[in-house]
Amino acid sequence: MRYRELGRTGWKVSEISFGAWAIGSAWGRVDDNESLAALHRAIDMGVNFIDTADVYGMGHSERLIARLKKERRETIYVATKAGRRLTPHNADGYNRKNLEQFIEDSLRNLETDCLDLVQLHCPPIEVYYRPEVFGALDDLTKEGKIRHYGVSVEKVEEALKAIEFPGVQSIQIIFNMFRTRPAELFFPEAQRRRVGILARVPLASGMLAGKMTPQSAFATDDHRNFNRHGEQFDVGETFSGVDFETGLAAVEELRQIAPPGATLAQLALRWILMFEAVTCAIPGAKRPAQVEDNVRAADLPPLTDAQMAKARAIYDTYIRKLVHQRW
Ligand SMILES: NC(=O)c1ccc[n+]([C@@H]2O[C@H](COP(=O)([O-])OP(=O)(O)OC[C@H]3O[C@@H](n4cnc5c(N)ncnc54)[C@H](OP(=O)(O)O)[C@@H]3O)[C@@H](O)[C@H]2O)c1
Repeated sequence: MRYRELGRTGWKVSEISFGAWAIGSAWGRVDDNESLAALHRAIDMGVNFIDTADVYGMGHSERLIARLKKERRETIYVATKAGRRLTPHNADGYNRKNLEQFIEDSLRNLETDCLDLVQLHCPPIEVYYRPEVFGALDDLTKEGKIRHYGVSVEKVEEALKAIEFPGVQSIQIIFNMFRTRPAELFFPEAQRRRVGILARVPLASGMLAGKMTPQSAFATDDHRNFNRHGEQFDVGETFSGVDFETGLAAVEELRQIAPPGATLAQLALRWILMFEAVTCAIPGAKRPAQVEDNVRAADLPPLTDAQMAKARAIYDTYIRKLVHQRW
């Protein structure tokens, strides 16, 4: 495992880290023992950074991570999120009182007295124009409730706006072989400001792992069933916003460029690590075997110019017109 600096935090985090949404909710049936085994396997393999949110199973994901931390002695940085428990989810809800409450709840779930990193959880666009929200996060940092804060964003323009606030240490954004626009304008600017980048949905909700077929079915409580058209949250979070059939056709082409012996998941993750502005990819995993597959991506040699060019050509042919100007 290699480690990269996260913003100006002084932390060095594992290039392949762990996304803890699926072990909390919205991905069909999961088994807590298996989830914990996956988390342990990640730590065994050098992962030291976990991304979660208060809303993943209403604290369930955070509580599993608290259990993990009690069973391990290694340094484990935990990034959580706040805001998505608001109903309605609107900008006015991102006020000091609510943020304080969300943070108190996460402190309790994670059984700690200071949160490592709190991210605003894809807030409405108006929030980026309310400096008082970021001021409240500065105050919570001074009060010792949080060490650092960042923002999880939907769109490149939101990322660019968020990093104008000097306290923002990290941006979490969808970045994968099916979502490349962040690398154009945003990555150089984030690097210039020394802001960390957490690449989320790195496997396009598992599609880039190459195991799905047109017949694949998903449980009714799996967002790959209930959010395919953005019924409950931004459609970009499900298969990266690519329609299922087109995505599968592109994945078939990607098979040609996987390095010998590497899985497609490893190709997808190694592709992300080719971008030095990225701090880490945070693939979700439900089982130890998935963690092992994903973490080994860090051991692959860099992709060649020819592999990168082919990946880009596949994106241009199948994906660009569906997603490029939407996020
Ligand atoms: N708004 C936000 O802030 C936001 C939104 C989305 C995600 N996130 C964060 O980003 C993380 C990653 O995104 P994601 O979980 O949505 O999507 P992802 O990482 O692209 O896909 C994860 C899913 O792919 C499958 N998978 C993982 N490794 C695999 C492997 N090696 N081989 C085959 N299948 C594999 C698993 O599901 P199956 O086994 O069921 O196929 C897993 O749950 C989340 O866990 C969360 O922490 C944040």
